[in-house]
Amino acid sequence: MADIPDFPTHLQIQTTSACGAACSICPHPVESPKWSNGLMSDPLFDRIVDQLRGRDVRYISPYLMADPLSDRKIFDRIATLHAAAPDAHVEVSTTGKYLAPGLADRLLSAPLSELRISSHGITAEEYARTMPGVDFDKAMAHIRGFIERWQQQQPYPLSVVCLWGLFPAERERRIEAFWKELGVELSKWRVNSRADQVDLTVLGETSPDPTPYAEGRREPPYRCRFDRDTQWMHILSDGRVALCCMDYGQEVILGDLRTKTIEDIWTSDAYRRVRDQVRGDAATRPDFLCNRCDWHVSESVHERAILAAADEQNELVPVK
Ligand SMILES: C[S@@+](CC[C@H](N)C(=O)[O-])C[C@H]1O[C@@H](n2cnc3c(N)ncnc32)[C@H](O)[C@@H]1O
Ligand code: SF4
Ligand code: SF4
Repeated sequence: MADIPDFPTHLQIQTTSACGAACSICPHPVESPKWSNGLMSDPLFDRIVDQLRGRDVRYISPYLMADPLSDRKIFDRIATLHAAAPDAHVEVSTTGKYLAPGLADRLLSAPLSELRISSHGITAEEYARTMPGVDFDKAMAHIRGFIERWQQQQPYPLSVVCLWGLFPAERERRIEAFWKELGVELSKWRVNSRADQVDLTVLGETSPDPTPYAEGRREPPYRCRFDRDTQWMHILSDGRVALCCMDYGQEVILGDLRTKTIEDIWTSDAYRRVRDQVRGDAATRPDFLCNRCDWHVSESVHERAILAAADEQNELVPVK
């Protein structure tokens, strides 16, 4: 059984449910019109932040399944979060749509620990396939301008995230070379169907996952590959707590921070029951969120993947 801390060490806090990029690789454009939640109110935000003070909070993403920079208050909120949990790694992810010079100034001086820029492709054609709501020319000009300015100051680590497995190998090589030439780290994230909520086949043939994770669930015990149920709490903008960043349908709601505390919800029977379901110790319906998710894997598969990744890392370390 995984060690469950007394309080979540990692939090995603959705200050807004808006995005505006309409990516075809993401359930947001299809699911968000059904959501009743919008912008997080100040009293709710303050109530959540107050509960983080003095806690062992290690990681905060001030967003969840939307775009943090579509919240006009995001910079004040980042500063408030940093002041309340000064040791936490505060990470933001956005697209080139929001990196115009004015917002870029504020981003560069924000107390962030990390910024990620999502860019699924490097041509107008690739953006039209993956990020149709983002104007390619503007976004690329913003990203290039931002990288140049970031390089002068380097206030925090910066990376570009590109989904991997969507493009032919030759395009992937070009994408890698493009970002290398611009001097920015590329994170190649394995594309997934977001728990069967995106039909990736409409984008063309995806290449198979080359890691042991391709085996997924073979036998129990199972686990969430990224500890979403045991380390992380995912807070929607109206205070409801969802199981994880895959829960675009708001299917597994574990409590409501308008009436309960983070601690109450984290240690509740509802959370315990869901953790048992994730592990395979309690029965689930076939359509339970984790049963549809690529990150739901056997412990044995996870262990082999970790060993394979470590081996690969060792091969990359030059032998002296
Ligand atoms: C949901 S977005 C929220 C933050 C911001 N809107 C953005 O796109 O960076 C968080 C991350 O999820 C990734 N993502 C979206 N759809 C995905 C998919 N089908 N497979 C893997 N990652 C995905 C995005 O690329 C982004 O890096
Ligand atoms: S991946 Fe990010 S930018 Fe694209 S639709 Fe989803 S939330 Fe919006
Ligand atoms: S659906 Fe389940 S396995 Fe997938 S990320 Fe969420 S908690 Fe983890």
